[in-house]
Amino acid sequence: MQVIIFDDAQQIAESAAEWVAELINKKSNPVLGLATGSTPISLYQELVKKYKAGELSFSNTTSFNLDEYLGINEKNEQSYRHFMNENLFDHVDINKYKTFLPTCNQGENPREQGLDYEDKIAQAGGIDLQILGIGANGHIGFNEPTSSLASRTRIKTLTQQTLDDNSRLFAADEFQPTLAMTMGIATILDARYVLLMATGKNKAKAVKAMVTGPLSAVCPASSLQLHENAIVLLDKEAASELEDQDYYVWADKQNVKINQEFGLYHNY
Ligand code: PGA
Repeated sequence: MQVIIFDDAQQIAESAAEWVAELINKKSNPVLGLATGSTPISLYQELVKKYKAGELSFSNTTSFNLDEYLGINEKNEQSYRHFMNENLFDHVDINKYKTFLPTCNQGENPREQGLDYEDKIAQAGGIDLQILGIGANGHIGFNEPTSSLASRTRIKTLTQQTLDDNSRLFAADEFQPTLAMTMGIATILDARYVLLMATGKNKAKAVKAMVTGPLSAVCPASSLQLHENAIVLLDKEAASELEDQDYYVWADKQNVKINQEFGLYHNY
């Protein structure tokens, strides 16, 4: 796991945007895994900026989002489809027919929908770069603590902590869904590269559990220890509980030199 510590959230967004731009500019049919939540918003702002500056085009990109509330209409402002339109899709040249979320509409069977989503990802050639946030409870996507490390896209019941953490986004009298469809942990681990962003003190405990373990379903993000190409972008607060911070800073400096000498090797 490559841990990079930044001064602030803006630097994280700029670095993550560089990763996305490199993939999109390098590969003819890039496949992006996307995330919702507060953390990736500044990344999407950077991507829109780059698109408007003519630095990248999403016209050949296919995207798969991590999760979506069960049975929610895409016009509902709480839907993750709405979030993606507002924060990214409406502002760039992506073909919306090639943007997918793990939906399960009224009357559909979540098990069939989960299998169908896995098929779609496989047909697209797999995910090249998966963007991730992390929950204060260590979840990735909506893979809540004790999710199977072998899980695939499926229906999941949200924990009380996740509901509490997300309640800030719902009005007092608004319905807050308690069920969602989410890529599984094994689905996420199949991505060629995984880029996890975390900011703020309230993520510090989960970040520590993710980076220094133990590998456990109690912290789903710790599964990234098994991933060959997991990059973790942190601000100082999110990194604050890591014991070996000096090492990560030192290793990052070495990586810059190694990349200068041997070239950046991203095997997309
Ligand atoms: P946040 O959510 O970016 O809104 O903190 C992250 C997550 O729950 O994965």
